[in-house]
Amino acid sequence: MRQKLAAGNWKMNGTSATLPELKALADTYGTAGVDVLICPPAALLHRAAEVIDGSAVAVGGQDCHADGAGAHTGDTSAEMLKDAGASSVIVGHSERRTDHNESDAAVCAKAETAMATGLTAIVCLGESLQQRDAGETLEVIGSQLAGSVPEQSTGDSLVIAYEPIWAIGTGKVPTLEQIGEVHGFLRAQLVARFGNEVGAAVRLLYGGSVKPSNATEIFAVEDVDGALVGGASLKATDFAPIIAAL
Ligand code: G3H
Repeated sequence: MRQKLAAGNWKMNGTSATLPELKALADTYGTAGVDVLICPPAALLHRAAEVIDGSAVAVGGQDCHADGAGAHTGDTSAEMLKDAGASSVIVGHSERRTDHNESDAAVCAKAETAMATGLTAIVCLGESLQQRDAGETLEVIGSQLAGSVPEQSTGDSLVIAYEPIWAIGTGKVPTLEQIGEVHGFLRAQLVARFGNEVGAAVRLLYGGSVKPSNATEIFAVEDVDGALVGGASLKATDFAPIIAAL
C-alpha cells in the first residue's frame, strides 16, 4: 500500500513573509495516510524547517548538485539540504531541464547523490505539447525514465512526478485517460526494470495545474499516488483542500 503524497513546489516564490502559510499548514495538517511536503527556495529552507518542526509536514529542496561539495558557485549540495532539514529533493523539473540545459544523465547523477545522502529523490519527467501532438508522449517519458532514474532506486528513495510541460502553470490539464495512460505506463516500466516489489512501491505523482477544483478526479485515477503542486501550494487555503482530496 503506497502512502499518498502531496508535495508543494514553491519554485522561486516566497520570502520570509510567506512562512506563515507554511505555519498554517503545519498547524492543521497531519492526515493519516498522507505525507505532506513543501519545497521552498533553498534560501528559506532552514527557516521553513524551524516552522514545521514537530508537525506532520516535511520540507525538501528544489534541486541539488551532483557533487558532494566543491567549486560550484550558486549551487546547493544534497548534504546542505539534509543539514537544513530536508527529507527530499526535486530533481529534473522541466524548468531546470530547460533553463539549465539539464540532460537525463545530469538528472540521474543528482538523484544518485540525493539517494546516497539519504534524501528521497523526486524525479520529474514530462512531454512538451509538440511531443504530445506528435504522438511521442510514451516514447519521451520512457526515455526520460530510463535515463534519469538511478539503478539503485528503491520504493523509499524514489518518487516519480509526471508533469506534462504544457500543463505547468497554464490551467490546462490532460484528460483523466491521458494521465492514466502515462501513469500505467510508468508503473509497468518500473516493474519491468526494478521488479514487482520496488516497481509497485515507487510513488507516482501527477503535476501540472492541480487545484482544489480538479484534485479529487485526478487522485481517483489509477496509479496516481499524489501530486506535485506549484502555484496552489503557496497558500495554505489552496493546498489544504488538495491534501484533503487524497
Ligand atoms: O512542480 C510543480 C509543477 O511544475 C506544477 O506547477 O501547479 O503551478 O502548474 P503548477
